[in-house]
Amino acid sequence: MKSFAIRNIEINPPLVLSPMAGVTDYSFRRLAKSCGGIGLTVSEFISVEGLTRNNPKAKRQMRFWEMERPFAVQIFGGQIERMVLAAQIAEDVGADILDINCGCPAPKVVKNGGGSGLLKDLPRLETILKEIKKAITIPLTLKFRAGYTDATLNFLEVAKLAEDCGVEHLQLHGRTKEQGYKGLADWDFVRQVKEAVSIPVSGSGDVVSVEGALNKWRETGCDGILIGRGAMQNPWIFRQIEDVIAGRAPFQPTLEDKQRVLLEYFEMLREDMPELPAIGRMKQLAGQFTKGLIGGAQFRQTLYHSHSVAEISDNIGDYFETLSVGQTYGDGSIETDALVPDSCAAFSSEQSGCSTEANSRDAAVGA
Ligand SMILES: Cc1cc2nc3c(=O)[nH]c(=O)nc-3n(C[C@H](O)[C@H](O)[C@H](O)COP(=O)(O)O)c2cc1C
Repeated sequence: MKSFAIRNIEINPPLVLSPMAGVTDYSFRRLAKSCGGIGLTVSEFISVEGLTRNNPKAKRQMRFWEMERPFAVQIFGGQIERMVLAAQIAEDVGADILDINCGCPAPKVVKNGGGSGLLKDLPRLETILKEIKKAITIPLTLKFRAGYTDATLNFLEVAKLAEDCGVEHLQLHGRTKEQGYKGLADWDFVRQVKEAVSIPVSGSGDVVSVEGALNKWRETGCDGILIGRGAMQNPWIFRQIEDVIAGRAPFQPTLEDKQRVLLEYFEMLREDMPELPAIGRMKQLAGQFTKGLIGGAQFRQTLYHSHSVAEISDNIGDYFETLSVGQTYGDGSIETDALVPDSCAAFSSEQSGCSTEANSRDAAVGA
């Protein structure tokens, strides 16, 4: 695998932290970026309805760290004028890239013509892309699904249309809207798109290991790989892939690294939001993070029943101390759970500006 460029922006390594609403916020992206190996970060999807109506939540979602660059803002919506205005706002706040969400399957998003709803209305998608292209100077990119239903796969048509409209990077999640998160992403679709267009193409879906990433790359010839849920379980996955590409042994985080990163994340969350949602987000990440660790399931139960910052910090301390002295935590079992099957659906109401941080916390915990 080698780096690739979106116009003159080098994506090096060619690994993208895939956007995840309710997860890849300001704090999570900083945490993941500091673990190394990420060539591009992307905001959570941001509602153009909220953004263009000055919704404070939408504005907050545009914040990014200088150390994240290159950084893309992703917007979603179906209304042409608002999409254009939101794209200009993203450029004004200093984003390097503007990404359009053409994949979210959440009913609330689709009903308003946004997300994967655009896959059903290609004339509208075309107008949106052309109008945005005229209104901004930063590169325009597209993240899309393979089709609306299994019977109406149109990824090749969408890819060519996007290229003709001046889109400079395609990111395909090889599932359909109808499929949601069931089954597996079909990476052969990524290969077909790569062969059909001359702009860079990246693939998304189910990458959770170094081998998995390298195999997908070899099989498809794609330029970049997006990793979403896998980064919640292992934020060092990007660095590990980068190590292997460079011929080094992959970095192996120690228990201390894991504990430190979890606590740092908690600290960042607490600086950024009130205690209650910070606790919710912390539980969400800790739950994913401890998959594959001894007694992880038991630890999650303990965390879910912790209700204050002090309780959470103490329980994290206890857990890692128990493991580090070689003792068994809980029943000592190690689960091999699949990826969290959740999607942006849980967050679409919050995006429309009609919910609170507390709702977001609840949604996150339920993820
Ligand atoms: C909780 C969650 C939220 C998501 N939010 C977004 C989003 O805001 N924008 C987007 O383009 N994709 C979103 N996705 C899709 C992911 O970016 C990614 O394409 C998908 O999860 C498959 O990749 P993975 O198996 O590496 O997670 C979301 C996925 C999850 C699980």
